[in-house]
Amino acid sequence: MSDLSVPSLESLESTLGGLDGKRILVRCDFNVPVRGGAISDDLRIKATLPTLNWLMERGAIVVACTHFGRPQGAPDPKFSVQLLREKVEELAPGVELIENLRFDPGETDNAPEFVKYLVDGAGGDPFDGYVNDAFGVSHRTHASIVGPPVSLPSAAGRLLEKEVDVLTRMRSAADRPFVAVLGGAKVSDKLGVIEALLGVVDRLLIGGGMCFTFLKALGHSVGDSLCETDQEQTCRRILDSGAPILLPSDITALSPDGDIGGDNGEVRQMGQSMPEGWTGLDIGPGTAAAFEEVIHDARSVFWNGPMGMFEDPRFAAGTRAVGQALADTKAFTVVGGGDSAAAVSEMGLTPYMDHISTGGGASLELLELGDLPGLIALRN
Ligand code: 3PG
Repeated sequence: MSDLSVPSLESLESTLGGLDGKRILVRCDFNVPVRGGAISDDLRIKATLPTLNWLMERGAIVVACTHFGRPQGAPDPKFSVQLLREKVEELAPGVELIENLRFDPGETDNAPEFVKYLVDGAGGDPFDGYVNDAFGVSHRTHASIVGPPVSLPSAAGRLLEKEVDVLTRMRSAADRPFVAVLGGAKVSDKLGVIEALLGVVDRLLIGGGMCFTFLKALGHSVGDSLCETDQEQTCRRILDSGAPILLPSDITALSPDGDIGGDNGEVRQMGQSMPEGWTGLDIGPGTAAAFEEVIHDARSVFWNGPMGMFEDPRFAAGTRAVGQALADTKAFTVVGGGDSAAAVSEMGLTPYMDHISTGGGASLELLELGDLPGLIALRN
């Protein structure tokens, strides 16, 4: 049993009286990024190998399943798992991978008929047991996550166990100072986690598109930068409560005639306010240096969300600075999935992080709420 009391692979083995010849359905999160027709980062596939190999070594017949992208509940060749099958065949020969779960609307609707289809063998012989190793999607109440544990002996895979262990320890017993760095586009997506983190962190550094709603709430003009006007009051309330938030003191902005990803327009460093028509697209060098210093002095750091539009090299410096600071600090560092994990991988800094979570949304929800639907299902 892990800290959150989910059954382990060992307990599944003993419940089933051994695994030799047993058919085990393993829910994976193989929702990997694809570029130019090839998998550009196979972290999520490699991360499940300890579970797949452990089951195979004990003679289990392993059938993996995953979602891949967001097809609209119908077969769509664009989201076929064929590429993933080839990778799985290379890394874990003998593991079967069934077609994209989201080709059936019953997956996201958590339909009982789709749960029954899965448990009954997904077109093959019925399963004897179920393993959830899909941390990245365990915050979703989807059929393949919450359905099978109701009727099949079930367990958490090694990846799920490890993710939960690292993130729950960070939430409740991080070494201090504990610093969280949040970026990304929308503040409304992260208000819940901001408020939850403020209860546990010593400093919260905010960059990315979401910082502009906070800056606007402080009375700064943010030009054409991303800003969620309906969240201004909430941001103001959070800032007025004396929360230990560090906002950017300078911004890298693009002139009104510029385009993101091209090379048109003028790029200029500004303070916290910018003229009409200008768009803030990265934290400025002064902010990057301030963030680096706080990260350097920390003992635990959690990072989720890029500091700017790092896909455009003109606005990548802030994200690079934060990534490098995490790589250099002596603190225990956790990168919370998604774009920040991709940025770390692109910078070649993956080996310098203590833990790179395979779940962006899932790690934020676990930090915010302390539990996930996929874990509750396994426990019940
Ligand atoms: C992810 O990529 O964050 C997970 O695979 C979950 O995907 P989803 O946001 O489409 O549910």
